[in-house]
Amino acid sequence: MTWRGRSETQRSAPPSLLTWVPSPPAASMGSWTARPSFSTIFFFVVFVVSVIFHCHRRLALVPAPWASRSLVVLGPRHLPQGGMWTINSQGRLGNQMGQYATLYALAKLNGRPAAIPAQMHSALAPIFRISLPVLHGATASRIPWRNYPLNDWMEEQYRHLPWEYVRLTGYPCSWTFYHHLRPEILREFTLHDHVREEAQRFLRALQAPRAPQLTFVGVHVRRGDYVRVMPRVWKGVLADRGYLQQALDWFRARHPAPVFVVTSDDMSWCRRNINSSLGDVVFAGDGRQGSPAKDFALLTQCNHTVFTVGTFGVWAAYLAGGDAVYLANFTLPHSRFRTIFKPQAAFLPQWVGIAANLGPAGENSP
Ligand SMILES: *[C@@H]1O[C@H](CO)[C@@H](O)[C@H](O)[C@H]1NC(C)=O
Ligand SMILES: *[C@@H]1O[C@H](CO)[C@@H](O)[C@H](O)[C@H]1NC(C)=O
Ligand SMILES: *[C@@H]1O[C@H](CO)[C@@H](O)[C@H](O)[C@H]1NC(C)=O
Repeated sequence: MTWRGRSETQRSAPPSLLTWVPSPPAASMGSWTARPSFSTIFFFVVFVVSVIFHCHRRLALVPAPWASRSLVVLGPRHLPQGGMWTINSQGRLGNQMGQYATLYALAKLNGRPAAIPAQMHSALAPIFRISLPVLHGATASRIPWRNYPLNDWMEEQYRHLPWEYVRLTGYPCSWTFYHHLRPEILREFTLHDHVREEAQRFLRALQAPRAPQLTFVGVHVRRGDYVRVMPRVWKGVLADRGYLQQALDWFRARHPAPVFVVTSDDMSWCRRNINSSLGDVVFAGDGRQGSPAKDFALLTQCNHTVFTVGTFGVWAAYLAGGDAVYLANFTLPHSRFRTIFKPQAAFLPQWVGIAANLGPAGENSP
């Protein structure tokens, strides 16, 4: 582990140690010279204890990440040399992954060091072997950031931002920012061994010995708050049973032994609406909602992906790396969503879109 604060502490402490050492009284000079190491040892112990105490207090301000190895930028007295770029830490797992990857790519394009907020580290580091250093809150609050809002797609001007201290803002989640660095992004989002192994155990248990090799298709059905937000705010629809039937049939037509591993934030809806009579549908976690990290790991360990809406599904498909089927054109033409979201920047060109049934959105929205 390396952190920048350490060298700072080491540089500044010895001079103060020297000034704190009192001159021994002349009368007892003999005994002091006879045991010259006593005061040195005493002050050395005080110094070590105070350094440990000091560091511990600083480290204690960084939430959670100590569970995982990482480079931590502790509050230096001076601004980081060569500038520093960061990004806001907003939303849930998929959003944070999009923000992380976008910061990684844009900082690299502009030749600037990048560091993530502690909050983002806490969200991502328990799952992935991310490598960007963490920016200590006390440091971040002293930096004169230039806030820079991003669109959800790459723009030419993002390659040449002239400022040293930039805080990117927004909810970017588009391959157009980072696909040229795909191997590095995959490395950043490599699962920790224990997370991957748990997902692999689940999949191995589905494979009967001597049966034909199964093709695992991860299915992510996002509902939750979108059940309300999608029709009201975005004038759109969520995936219905027709979409899921078509998406699963797309894989059934191409693979002799597919198994669909369903994850969702609304498992009871999935059980009612995904036709499992062919015996090739498995509801993950006994059909109860799993933790987002477990669900995500499971989806990435599958060979292919079906997803509905949201960045969680987009990332699962990007990391699984196989074929992907997504819900296309799920908002009405006049929806505000169409001004902030470009399908061609969100979905890889080789992914397969199935158009949503917009009927219900039309009924709600005159
Ligand atoms: C479920 O799928 C089976 C097999 O394709 C089909 O025969 C059945 O009609 C379907 N059930 C419903 C309710 O759609
Ligand atoms: C499909 O996924 C399983 C589980 O991760 C893996 O063991 C297998 O090698 C994959 N198959 C192919 C063809 O990639
Ligand atoms: C979505 O709509 C666009 C524009 O009308 C169209 O070009 C595209 O083919 C549609 N996508 C699907 C999967 O239907």
